[in-house]
Amino acid sequence: MTDESYSHISVLLNEVLENLAIDESKTYFDGTLGAAGHSRAILEKLNTDGRLISFDQDPEVIARITKTKPGKNWVLENKNFREIWDYCSQEKITIDGGILLDLGLSSIQLDDPDRGFSFYAETPLDMRMDTDLEINAANVVNKFSEKEIADILFIYGEEKKSRVIAKSIMGNRPINSCKELAEIIKKIYVKGSSRKMSFKTHPATKSFQALRIYVNKELEVLEDVLKFDFNHLKKGARIAIISFHSLEDRIVKNAFRNYKQEGKLQLISKKPITASAQELDVNARSRSAKLRVAEVI
Ligand SMILES: C[S@@+](CC[C@H](N)C(=O)[O-])C[C@H]1O[C@@H](n2cnc3c(N)ncnc32)[C@H](O)[C@@H]1O
Repeated sequence: MTDESYSHISVLLNEVLENLAIDESKTYFDGTLGAAGHSRAILEKLNTDGRLISFDQDPEVIARITKTKPGKNWVLENKNFREIWDYCSQEKITIDGGILLDLGLSSIQLDDPDRGFSFYAETPLDMRMDTDLEINAANVVNKFSEKEIADILFIYGEEKKSRVIAKSIMGNRPINSCKELAEIIKKIYVKGSSRKMSFKTHPATKSFQALRIYVNKELEVLEDVLKFDFNHLKKGARIAIISFHSLEDRIVKNAFRNYKQEGKLQLISKKPITASAQELDVNARSRSAKLRVAEVI
């Protein structure tokens, strides 16, 4: 893939910058570097005392941005954001500026057929963001029991046809490519309809989401990072989290609410901030984005 084909557009960029209320000399953490759109915009606002630490669990992401020779006050680490609190203890870092998490996948990962996220790719079902993880989507689909697969599709994808899909997966194993799985699921939706169907979103969307969340343990790592270590997170620091589906948003909302009740955080946005009509026009990914912001008190 060439550099020109990196087509990720950062979601809610202005809203993130505005709500992080960046102080040029403080320390910030971006747990989801991706194409570095948010990170670079934060960096532009920092002076030489300010510092940005950016993590990404995908080694390709870190390698790509490292090649651009980041400046001294930008630290890049190939780590899962769940490791931030251990990292702060080890490196004796205090986050006094803020935290950004822009959850999920970047368009770069989604569009790269070799990563196994695409409905149309003839490549193996992989779906790991961290390529060192032991379980990939092919393992789930080809080795797990029918009940385990149905549960994963239902819990993480809220897929109503989870049982029928799981049954069909069992009957078609081994499933060797993303496209093969997407077609198996599509057939179930087409069969269940009396009309000629046209789909707004691909009928495999929920199942693919479920497999991705399961493989990358996306909900567990979000819960882990939200166990803030207030020894390393200072009063006044802002926390901005962009989620893309209700399962994630619920976790963020509940964590912020609990911290508010304990008197540790105040909510900056009472309701989640969503994309403007202008942004929706140019970036389809922003459709489901919800930004929640809180401040350490
Ligand atoms: C939506 S993209 C971020 C895009 C970025 N904000 C930008 O403006 O270009 C999400 C990125 O976070 C990474 N990621 C997702 N979950 C992660 C986790 N638990 N720890 C570290 N990185 C993660 C993904 O590998 C992906 O590169």
